[in-house]
Amino acid sequence: LNAQPVTLIEVGPRDGLQNESQFVPTDVKIQFIHKLKQAGFKEMEITSLVSPKWVPQMKDARDVINAIQDDTRNIVLVPNKKGIELAEELSCSSLAVFVGVSNTFNQKNINKTTQESLQELVPLIEQLKQQNKFIRACISTSFYCPYEGKIAEKEVLALGEAFAKAGVDELSIADTIGMANPKEVYSLFSSFVKADLPLLLTAHFHDTRGMAIANIYAALQAGITRFDTSAGGLGGCPFAKGATGNVATEDVVFMLEQMGLQTGIDLNALLDAVAFLSPYVSRKIDSKHFALQHNL
Ligand code: HMG
Ligand code: MG
Repeated sequence: LNAQPVTLIEVGPRDGLQNESQFVPTDVKIQFIHKLKQAGFKEMEITSLVSPKWVPQMKDARDVINAIQDDTRNIVLVPNKKGIELAEELSCSSLAVFVGVSNTFNQKNINKTTQESLQELVPLIEQLKQQNKFIRACISTSFYCPYEGKIAEKEVLALGEAFAKAGVDELSIADTIGMANPKEVYSLFSSFVKADLPLLLTAHFHDTRGMAIANIYAALQAGITRFDTSAGGLGGCPFAKGATGNVATEDVVFMLEQMGLQTGIDLNALLDAVAFLSPYVSRKIDSKHFALQHNL
């Protein structure tokens, strides 16, 4: 691996917080986002326009979106037509749709089969592309599903190709429940690189079984240079049994910088953002670097 820039997409304000049972006050979320921006992030998932009945933590999405207005890529998750309409009303310029390869997971997460979601989203993505919006498609359960087990590579590729055909700018390929191993990661990402789709490829790892950092290394070797990470290692999908935190941004920054790969992220400023948030979350923050800094 030669010295090269690596892009980290910070998903803490969205994936990190969505599973928190206690409501994190809106002004805390906004300050957390600002602190992360001070650490250098240029791409971030800031919130999601989803049903407040399904995900109460994200009920203040409008206020977060209105407060975070700058030229960097502020991504808002949208599950359906209603979410896309709300995003248009709020003039969001970067949107993320999310669909699971597994039907069972997709049904539990957004109450539709994978095909039903695609049928709803593809024409909407085509329209959004005509308005020059940045569209990211998150592919959940790309390796394992908590309900259906191992997922076949060709199904993930087929879903990625369908999104590519619709014109998305980025695929974020996710190990939703942290089950994938580095060999599987190298294989799937190599297949995507070989497919040569005209879009950005990003890897999204949850660290449920401690394999995320090894999986990042495997994805790097397959040629991937974009990773979703979450400050403090918070995160998890409320509708995926067994899903826990995303890989901690601070641990990934450290590994990459030690390897001579530039992230553009100031590790101390990032740790300050995590320390600021920690009193407001119920989960113990146990990233290696936060624990080291705070003698945990
Ligand atoms: P539904 O109940 O089938 O929806 O839920 P519906 O269309 O029947 O509408 C029911 C109510 O929700 C109505 O309101 C709608 O207006 C409202 P009511 O009349 O009852 O007052 N509604 C909405 N409100 C706000 N925003 C919307 C919206 N749509 C409908 N967009 C729905 C379907 C998709 C809404 C629901 O299942 C939902 O919100 N799901 C979101 C689940 C979620 O956020 N999951 C976590 C994010 S994905 C993830 O974490 C994985 C990822 O990190 C990658 C990985 O790790 O795998 C990305
Ligand atoms: Mg996730």
